[in-house]
Amino acid sequence: MTLFESAVRPVLFRVGGGDAEKAHEFTLGRLASLPSPVRAAMRARYATNRPVEAFGVRFPNPVGLAAGMDKNGVALPAWPALGFGFVEVGTVTAQAQPGNDRPRLFRLRDSEAIINRMGFNNAGAAALADRLKALGPIGVPLGVSLGKSKVTPLADAVEDYLTSYRLLHPYADYIAVNVSSPNTPGLRTLQDKDSIADLLGALRGETPVLVKIAPDLSEPAIAELLEVCLSHGAAGVIATNTTLARDGLAAADQPRATEAGGLSGAPLTEKARKVVHFVHTETDGRLPIIGVGGVMCADDAARLFDAGATLVQLYSGFIYKGPSLVRAAARAR
Ligand SMILES: Cc1cc2nc3c(=O)[nH]c(=O)nc-3n(C[C@H](O)[C@H](O)[C@H](O)COP(=O)(O)O)c2cc1C
Repeated sequence: MTLFESAVRPVLFRVGGGDAEKAHEFTLGRLASLPSPVRAAMRARYATNRPVEAFGVRFPNPVGLAAGMDKNGVALPAWPALGFGFVEVGTVTAQAQPGNDRPRLFRLRDSEAIINRMGFNNAGAAALADRLKALGPIGVPLGVSLGKSKVTPLADAVEDYLTSYRLLHPYADYIAVNVSSPNTPGLRTLQDKDSIADLLGALRGETPVLVKIAPDLSEPAIAELLEVCLSHGAAGVIATNTTLARDGLAAADQPRATEAGGLSGAPLTEKARKVVHFVHTETDGRLPIIGVGGVMCADDAARLFDAGATLVQLYSGFIYKGPSLVRAAARAR
């Protein structure tokens, strides 16, 4: 057991009387206010130099922070200090929005899993653009994840994404098109062939655009989507988002299994790896893949790289295992 697991995690998991979202806000606040000498010392301890290049971008190491952890980019300088080789902020939407009612974030501790139905709570694309402009480069590549505003009808989705894209692409090393969150009604239908073709057509420009996909798509549906990605200039695929399935949960977590939302963490490991492997073989390695889902240890990361991922991202693993996982995963490549 690491020091994080034995001493830090128990404290964080008790913040706010065990309310997971309060613990998240508390931790983000702490990370946002780290003095720069502390960040420099952390960086010296945690930074891993394992350079890798993908879609024309050079990464100091292949392990990134997954979307959703720092939606509004409030703690941006802290992530490279914790050893991350890139950071994906967002998902943001063209309109600021509050997200779903609380509670909407649940830890399933025995399963090392999380269920969330946040619903793209975020301060909006313009606020993020202002923050990124003021902050300047953070020393590692920055991805910006875009989603559809809840109030915007699906028929107008392209224009909504385009609004965010115009505001944010100047600050992004890549744009992630999130069409796979289960928490915005209808969003996942944008993974259909025609919808994704329209979206990729509209967002074509100099900034690499990656498509983030759900782990619950059938293989034929993924194959169709990949064809469009290849023909419409997508720079890569991010696989995967959270799942609607509830397999692999420990008995103690069964009462939580009925919470609506997307499941992440250890129960997603195999599923995400299979999708990464399918994408890699189906495209003959022509589309770079960011593998994400259930990376809880170095071996999980190694298996995602073996399955065809060029880069990986962490969310739930970082919550349960702490910063030492970032370095361990980076060295697994
Ligand atoms: C609380 C929470 C919020 C998330 N928000 C987003 C989001 O805004 N955009 C997105 O693309 N993915 C989001 N995700 C999904 C993660 O980026 C990741 O794809 C998923 O959790 C699987 O990785 P993991 O098993 O390492 O957590 C969120 C995940 C969690 C747990």
